Amino acid sequence: MKILITGGAGFIGSNLARKLFERGDEVVLLDNFNDYYDPKLKEDRIKKFLKGIKFKLYRGDIRDEKFLEKLFKKEKIDKIVHLAAMAGVRYSLQNPNLYYEVNVLGTQNMLNFAVKHKIKNFVYASSSSVYGNNKKLPFSEADNVDTPISPYAASKKANELQAHVFSHIYKLPTTGLRFFTVYGPWGRPDMALFGFTKNILEGKTIQVFNRGKMSRNFTYVDDIVSGIITVLDKNLAYDVVNIGGDREEKLTRFVEVIEENVGKKAKRKLMPMQPGDVPSTVADIRKLRKMGWKPTTRIEQGIKNFIAWYQEYYCN
Ligand SMILES: NC(=O)c1ccc[n+]([C@@H]2O[C@H](COP(=O)([O-])OP(=O)(O)OC[C@H]3O[C@@H](n4cnc5c(N)ncnc54)[C@H](O)[C@@H]3O)[C@@H](O)[C@H]2O)c1
Repeated sequence: MKILITGGAGFIGSNLARKLFERGDEVVLLDNFNDYYDPKLKEDRIKKFLKGIKFKLYRGDIRDEKFLEKLFKKEKIDKIVHLAAMAGVRYSLQNPNLYYEVNVLGTQNMLNFAVKHKIKNFVYASSSSVYGNNKKLPFSEADNVDTPISPYAASKKANELQAHVFSHIYKLPTTGLRFFTVYGPWGRPDMALFGFTKNILEGKTIQVFNRGKMSRNFTYVDDIVSGIITVLDKNLAYDVVNIGGDREEKLTRFVEVIEENVGKKAKRKLMPMQPGDVPSTVADIRKLRKMGWKPTTRIEQGIKNFIAWYQEYYCN
């Protein structure tokens, strides 16, 4: 199969590219290498992390229809994993229009091209943030998610609606995966694990939001990749599926594991809750489990792997 991964130079996209290549798929990557975080990390994922892996890389923007036209003319794509997006809740509060343009209009372009080129399956990244301040835990796909609390969350909810229209009208198979806090080597600098590790190593204070009263179903990137592949192979007519780790971890425990691996104590500054953020995200993952998937990496191992990578990449 020839698989197009949008956001292919990103954290999850590059990890997925590796796995798909290893199992024999042809991989085409699309990315605009924007500077939401240091583009050098994106370049290094391509140059270093994907070294020895065969793939085609297209540098361009999912908002650019002419660029997409050329790509789809050149490549006979079988399936799409659409991960390109402006990610990150906080930045979306300052740049709501950008999130609308990239995440909503960009996704619409991808859906249009998917239909035009008779794509066999369209898997895309949704997010646990669609659950907003959902009071009922764990978060289930059956819960109502009509009350997002950030432009980012609204854009991801919109993607699920857009996909539904195209599955319904054009019979395009689509599956949206609601990712729950993904972490691991080659991760994103704007995420907590990255910032905590950096600051602890440099002896700087870390900000612990909601005074540490936060919990997450942290999900190791390899488990995300195996979940993407699970639904990619299924060609479901239309579905939206949670994908998260199977343990609710307290933020305080998360920080302890970082400390253990870094070998240094954190200087903590307890902070109030941030706007747009939620205190707890716990995933009901029974639906994806029934499809044969299960998460296998606990934070003790996952954080260890992340810190080994971080020290090799930044400290050598
Ligand atoms: N990492 C998480 O915890 C998490 C959680 C929920 C959802 N998600 C979603 O998963 C997907 C991948 O996330 P990630 O963590 O790998 O983020 P990432 O930022 O590392 O990857 C996204 C990639 O998309 C590219 N991109 C952005 N706008 C683009 C555009 N207009 N045209 C072409 N490329 C563009 C970026 O350059 C980047 O390389 C995103 O859709 C994100 O919203 C991630």
